[in-house]
Amino acid sequence: MINDRVKEILNEQINKEFYSAYLYLSMGAYLSDMGMYGISKWMEIQAREEIDHGMILFDYILKRKAKVELHALNAPEISFSGAQDIFEKAYEHEKTISESINRIASLTENECDLATRNFIDWYLKEQIEEEDNILRILSKLKAFGADKASLYLLDKDLGSREYHQSTYEN
Ligand code: FEO
Repeated sequence: MINDRVKEILNEQINKEFYSAYLYLSMGAYLSDMGMYGISKWMEIQAREEIDHGMILFDYILKRKAKVELHALNAPEISFSGAQDIFEKAYEHEKTISESINRIASLTENECDLATRNFIDWYLKEQIEEEDNILRILSKLKAFGADKASLYLLDKDLGSREYHQSTYEN
């Protein structure tokens, strides 16, 4: 069993993960509109992974016999000014998610919920990957993004990403 404070913060995190999916879908739609179909596909796959992250929390709350409480999702931003702007915003967003995961880790320690503290380790590691992946793309965009031929190649490269369901591994 998990206590109410832990249940609440985990439910809030489900909302944040699903909001992340919404945000990345919105970014993907903008990129598709701009003709950057490869980067758009990358964003759509990112959105699917965010739903996986939310579902792993959903399953965990149920497994611990606590109540899943789904809240309304905020509408994501819809206007952007190019691929670099998108990845800058995605990076800022992932930093807020990392902070949020840190707060869950801290709360579960304070509440002596060591099982959930152990569970959340998966998210701490995942956030290192999330920040790194986005930052690498952002660095490339900063370095070559102004050059249309390079941007075309980057779009092609990112379009080769394939979706693999994120699963919880301890
Ligand atoms: Fe689920 Fe991108 O963090």
